[in-house]
Amino acid sequence: MSEEKCKRVYITTPIYYVNDVPHIGHAYTTIIADTLARYSRLVGMDVFFLTGTDEHGQKIEQAAKARGKTPKEYADEISNRFKSLWDDFEISYDKFIRTTDEHHIKGVQKAFEVMYNNGDIYKDLYRGHYCVSCETFFTEQQLVDEEFCPECGRSTSIVEEESYFFRLSKYQDRLLEWYDSRPDRILPKSKRNEVMNFVKNGLDDLSITRTSFDWGIKLPDSINDPKHVMYVWLDALMNYVTALGYGTDEKLMEYWPAKVHLIGKDILRFHAIYWPAFLMSLGLELPHHVAAHGWWTRNGEKMSKSKGNVVDPKEIADAYGLENFRYFMLREVPFGQDGDFSQKALMDRINSDLGNDLGNLLNRIIGMSGKYFDFEVKSDNVAEFHKSELEEAEKIFSTVEPYLYEIQTNRYLEDLWKTLRIANKAIDTAMPWVKMKEGRESEAMATIALVANILAKVAVLLHPFMPRTTQTIAGALGFEVNHESYLKLIKNSELLEAFKIEKVPPLFPRIEEPLVETPAEKAEAEEKKEAKRAEEKKDEKESGANLITIDQFFQTSLKVGTVVEAEEVPKSKKLLKLQVDLGEERPRQIIAGIKEWYSPDDLLNTQVCVVANLKPAKLMGMLSEGMILAAKDEEGLCLIRPESPKRAGTPIG
Ligand code: MSP
Repeated sequence: MSEEKCKRVYITTPIYYVNDVPHIGHAYTTIIADTLARYSRLVGMDVFFLTGTDEHGQKIEQAAKARGKTPKEYADEISNRFKSLWDDFEISYDKFIRTTDEHHIKGVQKAFEVMYNNGDIYKDLYRGHYCVSCETFFTEQQLVDEEFCPECGRSTSIVEEESYFFRLSKYQDRLLEWYDSRPDRILPKSKRNEVMNFVKNGLDDLSITRTSFDWGIKLPDSINDPKHVMYVWLDALMNYVTALGYGTDEKLMEYWPAKVHLIGKDILRFHAIYWPAFLMSLGLELPHHVAAHGWWTRNGEKMSKSKGNVVDPKEIADAYGLENFRYFMLREVPFGQDGDFSQKALMDRINSDLGNDLGNLLNRIIGMSGKYFDFEVKSDNVAEFHKSELEEAEKIFSTVEPYLYEIQTNRYLEDLWKTLRIANKAIDTAMPWVKMKEGRESEAMATIALVANILAKVAVLLHPFMPRTTQTIAGALGFEVNHESYLKLIKNSELLEAFKIEKVPPLFPRIEEPLVETPAEKAEAEEKKEAKRAEEKKDEKESGANLITIDQFFQTSLKVGTVVEAEEVPKSKKLLKLQVDLGEERPRQIIAGIKEWYSPDDLLNTQVCVVANLKPAKLMGMLSEGMILAAKDEEGLCLIRPESPKRAGTPIG
């Protein structure tokens, strides 16, 4: 982002799909955008910060149906979860837009009409690979083995459907000119080439309506074609202008064009190609920047519900502190690169950067100023005794901000931390406690004041990242972070005059152990407990040397069964879910703890021995209607199977 003289700044997050609950990736986009919005306000800009939810489309229609809800009921529910998370996270958005909002729908219809009337939209046949089961078209590149649906694996067929098209191809040259007009249109700059190459390879016109589902915005009445609803990306992208009233009440359009659209790298193409082309067609200005961040993984793996490794941002923020979590995300990963989330890395940042470097420095100042000067500090002698340190720190304070224009939050924070090191070193070298003993009080005061001023300036520049913590630090130093203190301490490089230091409780208590378990970790701990309980029961039995009679043995009904279905239990490292035919009306569902030794394919259509009259039990919430016989020793586990195939249900004994 450039430091342009325009006072108005419009910052956006993507609008989040309501087919999933918020996770750490969503929190990341929103936290970066919030930090930029807060920074812009601090420096005196008039900011409009937008976020919201993307609620139309076939996926959402399906997700709602699966839960027995209408799409709107379902969208209301998930949209609220996003909104309340952002409220809990104190995200400073000015508007939360929903694509089901009436004014958005009207604005999108208006845009369609404008593009249609200027000849950029035409009707034709859309030809693509269609999966009947998923009711979705796929491109050739998306297909598995050139034929199969990437979602459900079924065979696809080539189908033609009537569709309206947007003349994207027409905008190829103008798009290339736009990317060329500034090297930082697309951030990080490294992504620009990727986009330009894609465009240079030629753009096909874009199908922008669908007839295969209903949950979408209808075409404007003037076009009179009720079969069609709009393609979700046309609908969704338009939110950036409908939120400002495009097509309805256009008062807020004075914030347009956006300073920056903050997005993840997966949706760069939509924002850097389709969106500017739509805007050109509408005759609207183009955004200043589109900035795409990288992807968060969890211990090196992609996060997904089925793996049970999704990080719940609320749980992490509640456990570790919201602002510590913000600091971590913005410090840990260079903008644009992928980052791995681990609690260890988070704890390290809290204990080291925040606790040792920042928190301790404040404590040292509180301690020394209290002991030697009854908390009264004066900055008059700083330049006399600490000229070089002050200059070194001021140089950083006056050059660090441009990092934020390119959203290099990690470099920005790294540089601020350099000034904390200067401050810590100044104390270690000047040793105010020695100076006090030698009666050189003004020198001791100068060191304390140098450090207090460095802390004050760090508090101002760190404010957009950690709003509350920095106000506490500023409060301890007798001032408030706001635009005035920004002008005074940063823009004009002034120092705090005489001030009184206030004691504050430790800001970053040390964290020794991870504080949160993921669903997968929780499931694993639960399984371990269950296994231990079973082991204890077995031991009890064996130690009793309890002989049984033949009648007692025959109380157990053992049968041969055929495995007719086998699958992994999501989030479980040990369990498989089997359907076993015992010659009864329907197969039995058996949840077996054998995943470490057998894959579903090893079991499918093979025979096993089953305890058939075991009382059904629930394992991880799933009913298990029997037990499979197996033998286990130090070398592992093997199933007990009939030597040759037997009819399903054959009794054993
Ligand atoms: N609805 C569209 C956006 C339309 S904007 C006009 C969408 N929604 S999303 O909910 O799927 O994703 C929203 C944002 O979250 C994207 O920027 C995406 O990159 C980000 N993330 C989702 N998972 C992520 C990670 N695991 N890591 C980092 N960010 C990721 O796309």
